[in-house]
Amino acid sequence: MRFEEKVAIVTGGGQGIGKAVARGLASEGASVVISDINPEIAHKTAEEVEESYQAKALAVKTDVKKRDDIHNLVAFAESEFGRIDILFNSAGICKRIDIQDISEEEWDEMIDINLRGVFLCSQAVMPIMKRQQQGRILNMASLAGKVGGIAVGAHYSASKAGVICLTKSFARALGPHGVTVNALAPGPVETAMIQDWPPEVREDMARQSPLGRIAQTEDIVEPALFLLSDAARHITGATLDINGGILMD
Ligand SMILES: NC(=O)c1ccc[n+]([C@@H]2O[C@H](COP(=O)([O-])OP(=O)(O)OC[C@H]3O[C@@H](n4cnc5c(N)ncnc54)[C@H](O)[C@@H]3O)[C@@H](O)[C@H]2O)c1
Repeated sequence: MRFEEKVAIVTGGGQGIGKAVARGLASEGASVVISDINPEIAHKTAEEVEESYQAKALAVKTDVKKRDDIHNLVAFAESEFGRIDILFNSAGICKRIDIQDISEEEWDEMIDINLRGVFLCSQAVMPIMKRQQQGRILNMASLAGKVGGIAVGAHYSASKAGVICLTKSFARALGPHGVTVNALAPGPVETAMIQDWPPEVREDMARQSPLGRIAQTEDIVEPALFLLSDAARHITGATLDINGGILMD
């Protein structure tokens, strides 16, 4: 059990990749705080996790656009469990839209959730992880943050490029305190986020991969658990590609 006695916060944990990683953490002994803007799915996931693994799982409604929500989330997790070992920043939105058509409001919302949210959540756990002299932060970046939007909007790609760089800055700041900070950069993953993609876009992305397939959430779980585990103690500031070879760099 790699995560016995560890306490993890998972943002966007109500569904998709966040939910799958939260389940993975709980299956190996972690207590998890499932945070999501949608309280119904957060509670449902927490219930499922408790039933499946006899792990402690709590749900908190959090909008990562709101600093007060984030501070409440972190204070709640700390008061319930006395520590925070893991922050998995998975909350995010994505939109397929031509660069010409992105409004200022859409740009701001994308950056607020995908980039500023990661910044605020990571900043909020910093004092606790520094005090513990131990911690793991893992951020969801994206293939799009490396290559620009192939199938998604430029604002999404820019937000994820920001996450990749922010990961390095937090890694530099927290390394001296025994905390590692890394990111994952998946290509398309079969979740609600891409469910409205036209079949031809989906097929084109699968064709670009030498493996000829689109990832499932399970393909993300083990790489995430590895980076959150003690085995990855000497890896920090890294962005791990999980893209089926669409991009090899
Ligand atoms: N699915 C993909 O193809 C893919 C590829 C690369 C990266 N990612 C990234 O992985 C992460 C998880 O995506 P997913 O595929 O699981 O998508 P998803 O839509 O299934 O899950 C995203 C979750 O984030 C929550 N959320 C949205 N806005 C929020 C906010 N303001 N505050 C708190 N929670 C909020 C949603 O309610 C949802 O539960 C995202 O950061 C996404 O950009 C996804």
